[in-house]
Amino acid sequence: MKFFPKAVVQFVLFFGLTAILIAQDVKYIEYDTDLIAPSAYKARREKLMQQMGNDAVAVFYSAPERNRNNDIDYEYRQDDNFYYLTGFTEPNAILVLIPKGISVQSTQDTAKMVTVKEILFVQSRNPQFEQWTGRRYGAAGAIKLRGLEHAMTNQNFKTMLPVISSSVKAKTWYVPAFRPDFTGPIAQLVQPLRTMLDLSQPLNSTVERKDTTTEVKDPTPMVRKMRIIKSPEEIELLTKATKITALAHIQAMMSCEPGMTEYQIQGLYEYVFRTMGSEYAGYPCIVGAAENSVILHYNTNRRPLKDGELLLNDCAAEYHGYSSDVTRTFPVNGKFSKRQREIYQIVYDAQNAAIAMIKPGVKWREEVSAKADSVIKEGLFKLGLIKDKSGMEFRKFYMHGLGHAVGLDVHDVGQPVLEAGMLYTVEPGIYISEGMEGVNPEYYNIGVRIEDVVLVTPDGNKVLSADAPREMSAIEELMKKKGIGNQPLK
Ligand code: GLY
Ligand code: MN
Ligand code: MN
Repeated sequence: MKFFPKAVVQFVLFFGLTAILIAQDVKYIEYDTDLIAPSAYKARREKLMQQMGNDAVAVFYSAPERNRNNDIDYEYRQDDNFYYLTGFTEPNAILVLIPKGISVQSTQDTAKMVTVKEILFVQSRNPQFEQWTGRRYGAAGAIKLRGLEHAMTNQNFKTMLPVISSSVKAKTWYVPAFRPDFTGPIAQLVQPLRTMLDLSQPLNSTVERKDTTTEVKDPTPMVRKMRIIKSPEEIELLTKATKITALAHIQAMMSCEPGMTEYQIQGLYEYVFRTMGSEYAGYPCIVGAAENSVILHYNTNRRPLKDGELLLNDCAAEYHGYSSDVTRTFPVNGKFSKRQREIYQIVYDAQNAAIAMIKPGVKWREEVSAKADSVIKEGLFKLGLIKDKSGMEFRKFYMHGLGHAVGLDVHDVGQPVLEAGMLYTVEPGIYISEGMEGVNPEYYNIGVRIEDVVLVTPDGNKVLSADAPREMSAIEELMKKKGIGNQPLK
């Protein structure tokens, strides 16, 4: 840890920041009216600071922008933990939490000093950039619209860091581990922190640092723990994401017919997501027919759909950062064949048995997952697809877990025992690839997964994706109707 001369610190505190504290207009417009309130984000930051204690500083940084090709970046998506603490969607931002507080010049009255416990460093307002790539919050917008106690432009991080360091003399600095893809402008902005803390290597518990008096810890586990139980506002957003998703699955069932392609079905999902206000798909749409239905995360989606085949669609919307995760499997021609029906019924029974068990206090792996496993084993055994139902032979056909938490991540933070306010997917599956040894060829290329989002409630559970039918007769009934996706565009 390098300390800076007191005179420098005093100068920066009292004079150096005046220019950037001059009040700016807020040009940014938040069009959505159902964003989680800034006060809820503030409460999360307060809760985290309580856990950190007074003798600590935490720094969180936004996700890097990622290049797609030449001068085009991938659509920007904020880092989960950064978003969880700020609701701030711009890149090149750094959040500093200082439980002890630090004295800074007031943004209201620059003649006054005020004590603040949080500073968000943000991209500066810049009319030229904003003309090309959109309005920016700026420091004033971060304070006014996102409810930060204090904000500055990100060029000031480098200057403020020694000020914070000298003023707080924290015993612990909480800094998230640096992923290998943490590159570009945000990495440059954060570099002074790495230099100051001697974090020349990626942060992990084995890094040896010159200064042993200052402890560096990863705050990620603390924030991830906070994310396990969802607040009512988060449940509302996940419910919206899931309702939108169910609507898209309904349209896919109604629209699907032989002669269409996997990508047309994907387009339909994405159309419904966007039309209903979802910003993104929570993960690339998995639309796989026949030999592709048995590939768990297939997403090439180029194959034509043929009569007699089964189509597996694992597609879900993300809404204001929160991702749903729902799969429906149905016959391309609207009618399950005998063999498809046999396999589907096993998966359906396993899913129902698992969902029926979900309530607070139940163990996910040992109770809920184990129940689904036993139903699948029994079903495969009865069909002669496995010879031994006591062992792991069934894993040839069902090679993934029963499910996972959903939230800001589609594979969100969970815990072994269920509690009210958790949302889990329940997604058993059976996948029979062509040429599997000892398997009747009539079962080849049948891949079935049924995936629903289940909210754990105080007295049991609620299936949030129930709008999308999953029972075979209900699917067949719905597929008799016309959807919006099979109308010719010309
Ligand atoms: N969509 C990915 C999964 O089901 O886990
Ligand atoms: Mn899933
Ligand atoms: Mn899924």
